[in-house]
Amino acid sequence: MCGIFGYIGNKENAAEIVLEGLKRLEYRGYDSWGVAEVTEKNHLISVKKRVGKIGEANIDDLPASSFAFGHTRWATHGGVTEVNAHPHLDCSGKITLIHNGIFENYEEIKKELIRKGHKILSETDSEVAVHLIEELNKKHLFNEAVRLAFNKMEGLNALVVINSEENSFVAVRSGSPLCIGFGKDANYLASDPIALLIHTKEVYFLEEGEMAVIEKRKVQIFDSKTKKIVNFKTQKLNWTFEQGEKGKFPHFMLKEIYEQPDIILEIASNGFIQAEKAAQIIKDGYGTYLVGCGTASYACLAGSYLFSKIAKKHVNFAVGSEFGYSLDFLTKDSVVLALSQSGETMDILESVKKAKEKKAKILSLVNVLGSSLYRMSDFKMIIGAGPERSVASTKAFTGMVSHLILIAYSLIDESEKGRQILIKAAKNSKQILVSKEVEMIKELAKKIKSKKHLYVIGRGLSYPTSLETALKIKEISYIHAEGLAAGELKHGPLALIEKGTPCICFLPNDETYGANLAGAMEMKARGGFIIGVSFKPHEIFDYYIPVGDAGEATIIPNIVVSQLLAYYLAIELKRDPDKPRNLAKSVTVK
Ligand code: M6R
Repeated sequence: MCGIFGYIGNKENAAEIVLEGLKRLEYRGYDSWGVAEVTEKNHLISVKKRVGKIGEANIDDLPASSFAFGHTRWATHGGVTEVNAHPHLDCSGKITLIHNGIFENYEEIKKELIRKGHKILSETDSEVAVHLIEELNKKHLFNEAVRLAFNKMEGLNALVVINSEENSFVAVRSGSPLCIGFGKDANYLASDPIALLIHTKEVYFLEEGEMAVIEKRKVQIFDSKTKKIVNFKTQKLNWTFEQGEKGKFPHFMLKEIYEQPDIILEIASNGFIQAEKAAQIIKDGYGTYLVGCGTASYACLAGSYLFSKIAKKHVNFAVGSEFGYSLDFLTKDSVVLALSQSGETMDILESVKKAKEKKAKILSLVNVLGSSLYRMSDFKMIIGAGPERSVASTKAFTGMVSHLILIAYSLIDESEKGRQILIKAAKNSKQILVSKEVEMIKELAKKIKSKKHLYVIGRGLSYPTSLETALKIKEISYIHAEGLAAGELKHGPLALIEKGTPCICFLPNDETYGANLAGAMEMKARGGFIIGVSFKPHEIFDYYIPVGDAGEATIIPNIVVSQLLAYYLAIELKRDPDKPRNLAKSVTVK
């Protein structure tokens, strides 16, 4: 959601560095942005805020400075306006603040501050925080005022505050992520480590309730409750700068789709050690619960089929936002397997917190090393997909599924079988990406782009495939798409099929083939335009996309087809696939 970037160092173009940093966070989704900087000579704060995308915006009108921070805002409290954009200033213009999260009790505090004479200009909860700090700063030193204000704030929040009289950021968090980057004669701060890669790989992820005072050459961390100094250790990011760039591709999404065969091969070669450990933890536990949101939730659902089919193991599954309502049966022997690309999705973090209260063991499969979920887990597995910047998750999904396949096979001590089908899935995915299939998918996108609705059916492992296909299509093309278990058609959705309705049918070479074909026929009989994604053609298909068989891992090349279709639908409809409207990459609020 909202992005944060800060720089304090020797360079005189701090605002430019910050603007570049914010651009690297654009993928998180935002509707307005702002930068504030301090000029050292006169200790003046200059602020520039705008509604809309950063695009070609420049920041040349701000004076030279070596100390600045900025924010991309995804509106929650108050409309999308310049006044509501961050950074916010206090009444004196000497304190400025950026905020991620939701300040839940801001209304009562706002009333109190207005009574005391504060002029609050925006509709946001965030601006209230800077006035609260100003008020507390009348009696306390600045850092202490920030700490006290933060402790008065209810909810999950990250604050970064500057006092123009002091050469340091004061940053504090609970919930919303903050990562400090350590450079040479400079330090950085970002809500997401991707933005730091161009400057440094040496980072520290602020823990829950930690407060940092960040100067040019010194960083001190405190516990925001006890004020005690925290001895911290930095860590090295294992991503390269190039991995986080578009390279020759027009969009991050397309680049990330094309990276998949190599990622799957890498997981096939090196993923089995952590898969075997995970399998052992699952075997030692009593009851396994999968939890994820959005695309990760469909990977979880696929996991429940994989564990059942391959390992004859029953696992439960809930989406993150529902997990809290179904955890009464968790015990200290339960294993919660949490899946998340970012490792920062609030519903997942909340689920894990609740599971920890029940003393369950937390196993996570996460893409961002050092993320909150990573740090909260008892046993952590890295997806290894590299930075994913497109809002639409692609390679993280196939990466998650690949690991789940390895875990399922490890549960029956057959990890080599898992490895073999992953190698096949990587080969079949590559086949789709480099040959005529891409042209066929582009052609299909042209044919169906004007449709208002489309339906996707599958059974067994192709059911989560259908749900994920529909999500990808609606999220970036804005066409209404519904994923269904094929058997459900007759229970209602069939009423919606009419002449020309596009119906995507997944028909892999498994036990679901016959029954799923029957579903396709039901739709065909109502005039549906049948798009068959299968290992062999069939006369009822109006459009056929071949996908080679890779056993249970066929879900991977099948999804590659869906991702490409969603991408080319977005291109045909002139939507930006990397920045879908109303969506953010990491959903860090509830
Ligand atoms: O970072 P996470 O994997 O926890 O994110 C979960 C969902 O927010 C995410 O998968 C979302 O559904 C994507 N936009 C789907 O493409």
